[in-house]
Amino acid sequence: MTRDEMPDPDERPVSPTEQPTDGDFDAGLRPRSLADFIGQPRVCEQLELVLQGAKGRGGTPDHILMSGPPGLGKTSLAMIIAAEMGAAIRVTSGPALERAGDLAAMLSNLVDGDVLFIDEIHRIARPAEEMLYLAMEDFRVDVVVGKGPGATSIPLDVAPFTLVGATTRSGSLTGPLRDRFGFTAHMEFYETDELVRVLRRSAGILGIRLLPDASTEIARRSRGTPRIANRLLRRVRDYAEVRSDGVVTVEVARAALAVYDVDDLGFDRLDRAVLNALVRGFGGGPVGVSTLAVAVGEEPTTVEEVCEPFLVRAGMMARTPRGRVATAAAWHHLGLTPPAGAMNASFGVRSRDAITESLFDDL
Ligand SMILES: Nc1ncnc2c1ncn2[C@@H]1O[C@H](COP(=O)(O)OP(=O)(O)OP(=O)(O)O)[C@@H](O)[C@H]1O
Ligand SMILES: [Mg+2]
Repeated sequence: MTRDEMPDPDERPVSPTEQPTDGDFDAGLRPRSLADFIGQPRVCEQLELVLQGAKGRGGTPDHILMSGPPGLGKTSLAMIIAAEMGAAIRVTSGPALERAGDLAAMLSNLVDGDVLFIDEIHRIARPAEEMLYLAMEDFRVDVVVGKGPGATSIPLDVAPFTLVGATTRSGSLTGPLRDRFGFTAHMEFYETDELVRVLRRSAGILGIRLLPDASTEIARRSRGTPRIANRLLRRVRDYAEVRSDGVVTVEVARAALAVYDVDDLGFDRLDRAVLNALVRGFGGGPVGVSTLAVAVGEEPTTVEEVCEPFLVRAGMMARTPRGRVATAAAWHHLGLTPPAGAMNASFGVRSRDAITESLFDDL
């Protein structure tokens, strides 16, 4: 397959990152309270304790870091934290805080109890990060006025606030920054039954008639990600309205997802091209990621950040020090017999559903 035939990675229906057409829908579908937030039971329970504790003491909650892949609900949770505390939320992002002055301006405008949400906090510039340390610890900033020997630093008080940081790469956060968060929420991929609940809720809000089998079908193909589930739901709704009577049945869901090239495991053409190249082109590996990327006509970063995490999670591929290796499951998925000694898929993170299914396979 050539590059021209491949959908733009950012426009794939199964891309976990936000797309321009998601905006309005996502805003309307965001859960507004912890009770409304589906899944992530551990994170929700921990957060509830942190928030209740702070409320009981009449203070601001500890600074909170949320880490996890795109589309799992970090921004939604940040808004919920503010709403639960009855506080206002100020939103900014790491890349927007290029100069320490940008951050100083934000901090000095905060009111007692405000939530400051910094998205993509791992991309914050160094001088701003250093200013943040002091603000997080002592609710104070030192603003430097002037340059050279005449420069003076003016201490400014900052109102007590709660910093909520979100990151898709907690590994790239510096140690000192990470240490200043009192609580870290690790967001996990969602299970199929949780995504079914997300889909039912969204269908209710959007007035879509979604039959139970169809919601399971869409949920299974949503890569553990609510944002993808909601997007697939919209594509399926279009199909139901244009080609059928508007009711989303399992047949309609299957036919619609076939049009968008999303297969029963949630793989699209790019994922399948990568698997194909790995298995058919390189005999199952090991092969380097750049070689693999050239074979499918994509940028290495696209393959590495967009396809791989899910292929690894689905138990199709492993990252080894020598390169990428296909698992036995990948050979099976392509209808091929794995060679003796092919890696087994039982390492890696797999969903409860997949584990249950494979238990039955063995019986
Ligand atoms: N627990 C949930 N229950 C219901 N819907 C959810 C949940 N989590 C996320 N969503 C839906 O998924 C969309 C994306 O969530 P959100 O923007 O919070 O993700 P994110 O983790 O901030 O993503 P990114 O890393 O790209 O910023 C939301 O608009 C909402 O519609
Ligand atoms: Mg977000």
